[in-house]
Amino acid sequence: MKKKILVTGGLGFIGSHTVVCLHEAGFEPIIIDNLSNSLMSAMDGIQSLIGYKPTFINADVNDKIALSNLIESHKPEAIIHFAAFKAVGESVEKPLMYYHNNLGGLISVLEVMQQHNLSNLVFSSSCTVYGEPDTVPVSESTSTKPAQSPYGATKQMGEIILNDNASWCNTQCLRYFNPIGAHPTAALGELPLGVPNNLIPFLTQTVAGIRKELTIFGSDYETPDGTCIRDYIHVMDLAEAHVKAVERLLNKQQLESFEVFNIGTGNGFSVLEVIRSFEEENKIAVPHKIGPRRPGDVVKVWADTTKVENVLGWKAKRGLNEMMRDAWNWQLKLNQNT
Ligand code: UD1
Repeated sequence: MKKKILVTGGLGFIGSHTVVCLHEAGFEPIIIDNLSNSLMSAMDGIQSLIGYKPTFINADVNDKIALSNLIESHKPEAIIHFAAFKAVGESVEKPLMYYHNNLGGLISVLEVMQQHNLSNLVFSSSCTVYGEPDTVPVSESTSTKPAQSPYGATKQMGEIILNDNASWCNTQCLRYFNPIGAHPTAALGELPLGVPNNLIPFLTQTVAGIRKELTIFGSDYETPDGTCIRDYIHVMDLAEAHVKAVERLLNKQQLESFEVFNIGTGNGFSVLEVIRSFEEENKIAVPHKIGPRRPGDVVKVWADTTKVENVLGWKAKRGLNEMMRDAWNWQLKLNQNT
């Protein structure tokens, strides 16, 4: 019997890739997703890669009865909790919606876990908890800064809630840097609904002719080329980190009940370097212009990966060019389908 892992938000960008990696590692993924920012087509992609459709219910994690029934009938060994809103700008406009969904959802998951004596959780946190760091790279012991947005606040508060429940809940808290790319077969990828906020989907849609040009948000920052620097990580590397985290929980290898890991590559790239890498890898130009700074943007942040490599035993394997190739192949596949 395969061990079952419940994946909330399992049809989303990171969730769907993780479902595939869980299957490949010998687990049986079970999915709960309310399709608020995902599409059923992700299930077709999953099926084409793993050969079957995993158990899925279309429900909100705030629906404790649905969640409880799912856990009762499948008895998962752990939960990976992805289901949350993630748009920084939208969170500023609709803070209550973010607090309700991201924190209410987490509390609902924890309450139902406690009811069922289930005590293994992987939590999606974010490098946003570091705010604008005083020094880079940031390590897990770098102090967090006041959140720049309600979205960031929900990640910080989520970590506090989990730390406060460490007496009974074992948590692997993964602080993601900037996840991009797609499955190398183009069976799965990011499906932003509406105009994308994030760099890579906006870039690939621009090259595909859906958007006129990419605006670089500021070129007068204190960085070598004046544009902001981020630690971009391939979504497959990120998905594999979740498998490692689940294995650490199930093998009872945790040194502390609440453990935090940076999930990045340890390399920072500027917006201009990303554009150059895309152009080189795919041999196609990216129409772009320089625009004003985007309020709330951090100047530069990248991960110190010492802890995650030594303790979790995970290291990102894929480079920026591979991320650019897979992101573009995914966009080409989307174009074919429209
Ligand atoms: C933000 C959050 C991150 C969150 C992610 C999910 C912060 C510090 N980071 O990442 O925690 O998980 O959103 O949505 O809050 N850019 C352009 N033009 C564009 C779009 C982006 O120049 O059209 C630039 C940005 O200024 C930035 C970089 O590209 O320097 C990456 O931006 P983006 O992809 O939006 O991610 P973050 O803001 O880094």
